[in-house]
Amino acid sequence: MNICVIGTGYVGLVTGSVFADLGNEVVCVDKIDEKIAMLRRGEMPIYEPGLEEMVARNVADRRLHFSTDIGEGVRRSDVIFICVGTPPKESGEPDMTYIDEAARSIAVSLNQYKVVVNKSTVPVGTGDRVREIIEKNRTRNVEFDVVSNPEFLREGSAISDTLHPDRIVIGAPSQVVAMKILELYAPLERPMLITDVASAEIIKYASNAFLATKISFINSIANICDAAGADVVQVMKGMGYDQRIGAAFLQAGLGYGGSCFPKDSSALIHTADKLGYDFRILKAVVDVNKEQAQRFMDRMETALGTFEGKRIAILGLAFKPNTDDLRDAKSLEMIARLLAAGATVQAYDPIAMDKTREIFPQITYSKNAYDAACGADAVAIVTEWNEFKFLNMERLKEAMQGSILFDGRNIYDPVRMRRLGFDYYCVGRSVKDRC
Ligand code: UGA
Repeated sequence: MNICVIGTGYVGLVTGSVFADLGNEVVCVDKIDEKIAMLRRGEMPIYEPGLEEMVARNVADRRLHFSTDIGEGVRRSDVIFICVGTPPKESGEPDMTYIDEAARSIAVSLNQYKVVVNKSTVPVGTGDRVREIIEKNRTRNVEFDVVSNPEFLREGSAISDTLHPDRIVIGAPSQVVAMKILELYAPLERPMLITDVASAEIIKYASNAFLATKISFINSIANICDAAGADVVQVMKGMGYDQRIGAAFLQAGLGYGGSCFPKDSSALIHTADKLGYDFRILKAVVDVNKEQAQRFMDRMETALGTFEGKRIAILGLAFKPNTDDLRDAKSLEMIARLLAAGATVQAYDPIAMDKTREIFPQITYSKNAYDAACGADAVAIVTEWNEFKFLNMERLKEAMQGSILFDGRNIYDPVRMRRLGFDYYCVGRSVKDRC
């Protein structure tokens, strides 16, 4: 099938590459010249494991192309995927500018029947909005259909999530239209759900909001565990064995970040408000998440006496492992507070340091975790990169000036850390006496 993907961010680039890998003819278009130039040179604008190889393979086989010519991409394709960003506005409402722009570009180049598939995360009703824009702006009286096909990939495992999704959701105006998109996904042999367009749009937000709820819930339980002297990891396991609950997304920590959960939760609250429903649960989820890293920092400050004049090593800057994405990363708010309080920060991240340097040029960037810990009064684990799980902790402690270890992601065994002489703080595991 001939496919056009509009937008070369995480979703667009991965979707386009995977469809090409499945044997389709794909053109990925973007209005940013520099991005397309990079992709044509074989350079990835984002870090995503396995993506560069997949792109290279399909470009070499001439199934995957990159272009700034949206019109040409639309004209030569049967199916057009809209994968543009919907960044949050001040109010929490998603900015629909790029969706509207994409719809207008499709409209003016519509030369024969097409299926327009919306993969961007968009509020319910966007299918109708896109349909109206295309109807209003098309220059020929050509038929088309609009489908919602939400994306569930996670950064850092985007390729494997796209190849092995838990489910594929296709929200279409009719079974016939749904079948056209279903055909594209058939080689993946994964469960598929066909719905109306509005339900598919809500499935995406409801899924992300529910996962965010799980995280804020377990973080609240962690805070109770801290006060009660219990261990949230054991509590999580005990809950997770119940198949109705499940252990996934029940890791307590500093709270969720990234480009999706914070933005999508606010957007769903906003949509609910507009529809006349006060989404109280989700508002609380957002509030708990905002407080979580700050609560941890309050504990850090108490343990250190003051941040002023202290040297703190921050291990992990990306919002989660296996990505260089810093959007809503907990590291940023933590570093900002440390600097404002007069601390010195020495940071290390395997991939995200260049991007962080653009935001905080004044902190020290180290070549590994041990260098970052050098002379530090305290070390804080902010992102749970695998390489931090297997550090030589004796060497780390030796490099430090102090012995305080703040583990914001619960990656170490509290008993072992205390045995090694660390003054160890984690999230919801304050069972010192019984360990
Ligand atoms: C999330 C969803 O998991 C994807 O299904 C969805 O497609 C994507 O948003 C999107 O809407 O585009 P992503 O933001 O890439 O994916 O990353 P996640 O792995 O979901 O992690 C989100 C945040 O939750 C991270 O900050 C992570 O540290 C945090 N988290 C996750 C926890 O604090 N505890 C957990 O148990 C799991």
